[in-house]
Amino acid sequence: MDMQIDDFVGAKTGLSHVDGEAGRLIIRGHDLEELAGQCSFEDAVKLLWSGVVAYERGAKDGIPAALGSARIAAFERQAPLLQQHHAKNQADTMRFLLGAEPSSDKLRESIDAVAAVGVAAALSTRHGLGLTPVKPDANASHAMDLLHMIRGDRSSDVEIRAFDTYLVAAIDHGLNASTFTARVVASTLAGLQASVLGAFCALTGPLHGGAPGPVLDMLDAIEGSGDPAAWIAGELAEGRRLMGFGHRIYRVRDPRADVLKAALKRLGTIGRLERAEVIEQAAIAALRIHRSGRRLDVNTEFYTALLLESLRIPRQAFTPVFAASRVAGWVAHIREQEGVGRLIRPQSQYVGDMPVRAA
Ligand code: ACO
Repeated sequence: MDMQIDDFVGAKTGLSHVDGEAGRLIIRGHDLEELAGQCSFEDAVKLLWSGVVAYERGAKDGIPAALGSARIAAFERQAPLLQQHHAKNQADTMRFLLGAEPSSDKLRESIDAVAAVGVAAALSTRHGLGLTPVKPDANASHAMDLLHMIRGDRSSDVEIRAFDTYLVAAIDHGLNASTFTARVVASTLAGLQASVLGAFCALTGPLHGGAPGPVLDMLDAIEGSGDPAAWIAGELAEGRRLMGFGHRIYRVRDPRADVLKAALKRLGTIGRLERAEVIEQAAIAALRIHRSGRRLDVNTEFYTALLLESLRIPRQAFTPVFAASRVAGWVAHIREQEGVGRLIRPQSQYVGDMPVRAA
């Protein structure tokens, strides 16, 4: 592996920091554990955006009210478009809906982008399952309303708190692939809508935000096999990756995994969680043998998958739901990058042939 490429620093940021050696995620001066499970998504947005993102509507009415009315407006823009759209999958529908969002950027509020991605996540989920859209409620919290718009039924307070924990835990994470994409697009001054759309596209791959759905597929297959250790050994022998394990930055356990596991326990999830813990230990042991020189541990997607499953969110919706949280981080990075005002344009290392010149 080329260390120059892995060590590349793509931005200076005051938003979040991933300490891969210590297993810490710091967001605006707070450890993740001080925020996830302790405050609402709206409070986390306020903290993350403070001094970085200008938002007139939220400043006057407060972020919960501004986000609520922005959800209504996003629904009115997006829901009619679904009549012309034949879904291939949820991510495809989200790209379609976010691509149709207005791009007159200078007039647009940052909060609209958060609402637009949340509403698109709910609409694409239901559209893909052949279900009719559920209208937003401007007076509900973002977590409560997204759950309602996705599932169509009312949630308990414990479920809303668990989903809020997830939304806060996923809000920002240093210069991950989708956030870096957002900053690259923003650095060209292409605007908020283009930057968010680019970030979403980067999120959808299985090595990033597309992992939690496959995590559940993997857990189902392992449970069905009746022999976790043999199943895992077979996958690794075939050169396949275990979904929900490994990370580019963390050399120890991903701190988000424990925050989400605590939320699962508060939800009262028992059987599936106990079986998953056995699988987790078997996977870590197998990975230690498979890659003895590199510590591979559980990442956030393993417990994300279990938590979202417990919340009865269909697995096809996991990537859209991830985007519904991470968009707040993208927006903060986009605005921070616009403030820098310099094009991101790294150099490449040419390893090809040189022209042969006649002497
Ligand atoms: N299963 C099996 N082997 C693995 C795994 C895994 N989950 N993760 C890494 N390895 C192996 C790699 O194949 C690599 O071997 P190689 O050099 O022979 O190719 C070796 O361990 C070292 O890999 P890293 O450099 O640590 O991994 P990298 O930084 O390239 O990839 C990634 C990180 C993409 C997350 C990887 O661990 C992976 O594919 N995991 C499974 C998918 C997943 O869980 N994605 C979600 C990530 S979290 C997020 O984005 C929110």
